Amino acid sequence: MSQMTGRIDYAISQKVVHWLMAFLIIMDLFIAQKFGGAMEDWDRFESRSDHASVGMVVTVLFLIRIYLRWKFGAPPLPATMRPWEQTLAHWAHIAFYAVIAVMILTGILTAMVANSAVTPFSLFALGSGEGNAEAYGWLRFVHETATKAIIGLIVLHVAAALYHLVWVRDGMTERMLRFWR
Ligand code: HEM
Repeated sequence: MSQMTGRIDYAISQKVVHWLMAFLIIMDLFIAQKFGGAMEDWDRFESRSDHASVGMVVTVLFLIRIYLRWKFGAPPLPATMRPWEQTLAHWAHIAFYAVIAVMILTGILTAMVANSAVTPFSLFALGSGEGNAEAYGWLRFVHETATKAIIGLIVLHVAAALYHLVWVRDGMTERMLRFWR
């Protein structure tokens, strides 16, 4: 992933994809928060498909995001940031990409071995719906663990963004916030 030359902000397309992904991932977390408890079968099966529909949009956006990052790179971090802060920011972003990839992969695989046909947007079925309880159990465990990791990363990310916006005021957060000058 290259560094942008001469740019101080992310490209507009990167900002649009970033905010759409943030909104949809949080929406998917809301849809999925009831999966851990008891549910009527019809509700669980329908909710799985709703959750997977949003998840498939996130998947497409994620692929577009990787392409945009490869094409445009990222603007440089403020020179006033200490080296350890720059390292932390760098690794937190890599962790975000990795956890989202695990989330998507295990989500799709969980859906493929679920005991109901999971049909994003009613367009196609991710599996037969026959179910494989053993595979489902451990895939769902990884999916759930990745959920915990992504929530931790979101909290860290929002805290860092607010710290730079309100306290340090070094223009770092504005690189993703500013849509016009
Ligand atoms: C976009 C990122 C995603 C997030 C944040 C997310 C989040 C979650 C959460 C929080 C759960 C419930 C875990 C628990 O009980 O604590 C869950 C379950 C599940 N997710 Fe995802 N998920 C994502 C993507 C996907 C995708 C892409 C698919 C499939 C295409 C998928 C399919 C499933 C299935 C089948 C379950 C199990 C439902 C059940 O327990 O009945 N997820 N997900």
